Amino acid sequence: MKIGNIKIHGNLFLAPMADVTNPAFRMLCKKYGAALTYSEMISADAVLHENARTTSRGLSCEEEKPFAIQLFGNSATTISDAASIVEEKYAPDIIDINLGCPAKVLVKDGSGSALLEFPEKIRDIISSVYGKVSVPVTAKIRVLRDMRETLEIAKIIEEAGASAITVHGRTQAQQYAGKAEHKYAKNIKNELSISVIANGDIVDGYSAKQIIDYTECDALMIGRAAMSNPHVFRDISHFLRTGEQINTDECSQRIADFKEYMRLLELYGLEEHVDIRMHAQWFTRGIKGGRHVRQEISKTLDKKSIIQLMDSLCTQFSEKNENSNFHGN
Ligand SMILES: Cc1cc2nc3c(=O)[nH]c(=O)nc-3n(C[C@H](O)[C@H](O)[C@H](O)COP(=O)(O)O)c2cc1C
Repeated sequence: MKIGNIKIHGNLFLAPMADVTNPAFRMLCKKYGAALTYSEMISADAVLHENARTTSRGLSCEEEKPFAIQLFGNSATTISDAASIVEEKYAPDIIDINLGCPAKVLVKDGSGSALLEFPEKIRDIISSVYGKVSVPVTAKIRVLRDMRETLEIAKIIEEAGASAITVHGRTQAQQYAGKAEHKYAKNIKNELSISVIANGDIVDGYSAKQIIDYTECDALMIGRAAMSNPHVFRDISHFLRTGEQINTDECSQRIADFKEYMRLLELYGLEEHVDIRMHAQWFTRGIKGGRHVRQEISKTLDKKSIIQLMDSLCTQFSEKNENSNFHGN
């Protein structure tokens, strides 16, 4: 598929996630087949004021390409000025505008999902960014309860020059509650000619297949499922190709991925920007015995101890399996 003039080899994208999708995490997902990766959202104001934190967020490398930088803000001038700086400084392939974040701090400031109440402001923002940068511009929205109003916003985004739109099928008020409603992405895909990306609750091959078949969208964007298991990109793409699930030892896979993640953090000099304990805890989500290990991880800051604790998780689990096999025989 293509977004503007950017060729993208695959249809599974890594969602932008604040405090998660740093360059090291994105590279890990790329290795497992994420066709397009997004930076954490970056404040347009912070870009203009050269806030140091934006540097680690915007950073990328040649192997990651194509990648997108996501910006948020509340004014067309600020966002388009920031887009122009970001384009020159970090050379992203795509610039994405956040029109969906429901966090109070953004909404109070008139950014993120607060903009969904002001369609003409959205038009101004997208068209100003489109006029300022040479890379494709995209937008990521949440839905409104009203289908017609949601479709109107999507059309405005297309008319203003965007090359793609991502639709997270939840409203601002829902935050992360309930199930994502993909009928919005389906109808937007039906009405628009730009690429449409469906997002929300894609966790495995089955959900991915169901959502892509139902919406007929160009791509799927995966967030929380990748947070604890970057391997999910390989699992899903295998399922979409063959209809079969990959049979891996999930525990050792996750721990190996965490170790690789630590190596990449070190390689990119990002260790001090990341809360290692929090990331270690995500990587153990859904693993048997994980709760106890997460409690222990929360008590230490030492990298070696964290890795030992995670290693012990797989050993305990495989010992338990061996024991239960023994009793079964
Ligand atoms: C920890 C976290 C941080 C997020 N940060 C962003 C962000 O920076 N920009 C954005 O557009 N969405 C952000 N989101 C929303 C995700 O991109 C995605 O839309 C949402 O999680 C639904 O997809 P999922 O069900 O696959 O997780 C964030 C979500 C999570 C869980």
